[in-house]
Amino acid sequence: MEKKNIDWGNLGFAYMKTDSRYVSYWRNGSWDDGAMIGEADVTISESAGVLQYSQTCFEGLKAYTTEDGHIVTFRPDMNAQRMTETTQRLLMPSFPNERFIDALEKVVKANAAYVPPYGSGATLYIRPFLFGSGPVIGVAPSPEYTFRMFCTPVGPYFKGGVKPLRLQVSDYDRAAPNGTGHIKAGLNYAMSLYAGHVAHKNGFAENMFLDAATHTLVEETGGANFIFVTKDGKVVTPKSKTILPSITRRSLMQVARDYLHLETEERAVPLSEVSSFAECGLCGTAAVISPVYSIKTAKGEITFPSGEEKMGPVIQKLYDTLTGIQMGRIPAPEGWIHTI
Ligand code: PLP
Ligand code: COI
Repeated sequence: MEKKNIDWGNLGFAYMKTDSRYVSYWRNGSWDDGAMIGEADVTISESAGVLQYSQTCFEGLKAYTTEDGHIVTFRPDMNAQRMTETTQRLLMPSFPNERFIDALEKVVKANAAYVPPYGSGATLYIRPFLFGSGPVIGVAPSPEYTFRMFCTPVGPYFKGGVKPLRLQVSDYDRAAPNGTGHIKAGLNYAMSLYAGHVAHKNGFAENMFLDAATHTLVEETGGANFIFVTKDGKVVTPKSKTILPSITRRSLMQVARDYLHLETEERAVPLSEVSSFAECGLCGTAAVISPVYSIKTAKGEITFPSGEEKMGPVIQKLYDTLTGIQMGRIPAPEGWIHTI
């Protein structure tokens, strides 16, 4: 199959329109059969639930070309299940998990010419989303919904690829206790834009958000979970009810234990402990694992001994093993690789 003429090595994390996408409508209490379509623009009521009250959610996953030339996706069942949990919290109809996988296969197959070649450094980012498309005017769930899935080839999420990032502790909160921090609702991202703008204006790549109740515990950034490495080589990640349960983070903790034979801890991480860690990274589908060099706090700046030039050794091993599994160089745990 002939690939599109794209400069794969210089792609950023940006939207590029591809040939076709999947759409299904929920009306009168059920989903229709769904179809692949060419039209990228969406036409909905001016009073749609998504436009008036932000009733929308999304997922993000990637397709890769493996070393031996197959196209694969990574744990898509986890994205389907997380979207189901998100829709329940937002009072939206769930899109059945098996239909999510069917749509994914259709979207990737139809856009195979956009799946970056092995070794190019780029991947195909797939964006499933579900929103209230029927009219509301009182605050209420929408009477109709649309599920869509498109894809776009992407390069690294952070400019500069793997150069360690500088972060700041945000003065703003991302998620309230008992709020929506644990689901992938669009509203979580709308309210993080201003905090992100402030971080960028101050010269930082991202915010570290703290727990909204006490402002003492590490939560996550606007789009990724944290992973820390202690000086004695343990891999530690914050446990919190108000962060998104990252599929990358859950996978990395398993990789740390089963492939690298490291001790792991998922527990509350006080900000006051962070200066004692040897390495820090951000993990997520878009971020993969992006190393962190420094974190500016109200009291000063924490810097990690792994330095400002490259990833620390444990984060590097986690990165190499995870991407090795995704690209087919390293045998994957049962069920992690879904061949298209
Ligand atoms: N945290 C937030 C707020 C995110 O938006 C994402 C991205 O999906 C993640 C963490 C990472 O999750 P995952 O590894 O499932 O992509
Ligand atoms: C992802 O990692 O897929 C995300 O959704 C993060 C960001 C692009 C919001």
